[in-house]
Amino acid sequence: MRPRVTVIGAGNVGASCAQRLFDKGYADIVLLDIVEGLPQGKALDILQCGPVVGSDSSIVGTNRYEDTAASDVVVITSGLARKPGMSRDDLVLQNMAIVKGVTEQVVKHSPGCILVLVTNPLDAMTHLALKASGFERSRVIGQSGILDTARLCSFIAAELRVSVKDVTALVLGGHGDTMVPLPRLCFVGGVPLTELMPAQAIDRIMMRTIKGGGEIVDLLKTGSAFYAPSAAVVQMVDAILLNERRVLSCAVYLNGEYGIKDAVVGVPVKLGRGGVQEVVQVKLAPAEEAALKKSAAAVREITSIMKL
Ligand code: LAC
Repeated sequence: MRPRVTVIGAGNVGASCAQRLFDKGYADIVLLDIVEGLPQGKALDILQCGPVVGSDSSIVGTNRYEDTAASDVVVITSGLARKPGMSRDDLVLQNMAIVKGVTEQVVKHSPGCILVLVTNPLDAMTHLALKASGFERSRVIGQSGILDTARLCSFIAAELRVSVKDVTALVLGGHGDTMVPLPRLCFVGGVPLTELMPAQAIDRIMMRTIKGGGEIVDLLKTGSAFYAPSAAVVQMVDAILLNERRVLSCAVYLNGEYGIKDAVVGVPVKLGRGGVQEVVQVKLAPAEEAALKKSAAAVREITSIMKL
């Protein structure tokens, strides 16, 4: 029997997640949305890719949480996306009600699942899902750091005209304007980025990374990014269900790690069977630590609006 992955929300991010997972062929997928016909139609369309891409996965679309029962992983993408001029934080009150209700329904039918959160403001919504589910923190994980890191890596690769495959980077902190890309921990084929690029170019790329989501919102005008976010989600699902023990930057509840308590922020974690197997701790320079604490404070401020 294949593992079961439910994707809640059949919009751009949700449908792209379902499609990418279907293409991999190792999981069966349920796509749920409140809009009648939308998840059913998209699921049928994706199913019919099977003969072409060589996937025997099953995928069903539904409006009923009963059909999601006994999922191993549930990806929550429901909620509004921002429009030009909005910050992710502007979505907190509207998306709070949606994510709370969704989490309660999901948990009722899949009490043993691992939750992957995608809805913005990401860190606050992950915190909310943690509280609403009553799950231990290892099973409630936000997707943000992989996306932010991927943006940073692709900018570095383009600037230096090298393969993205040889670029590694680390972005910590909240998924917003206070995120903390760490130039000191970017490498190209093992060589520190700081030896390959002038400081000014590094600063420009770090700033573009921080504003990376907004750059796409401004171009699209009607919503936010979904190709790279869905790729990032699938990397997390792979790591969990295939027990890959990947070390990836994810948003998790911190309980003293990095000197931060009672806040969800992005840090490197070991992801495998069961979810977060370990919060990986990196020794930070004083300025980096200060930036991470500032980011955690910004996340706490948004989270506090919800009075969890
Ligand atoms: C982004 C949104 C989806 O960073 O948070 O593109």
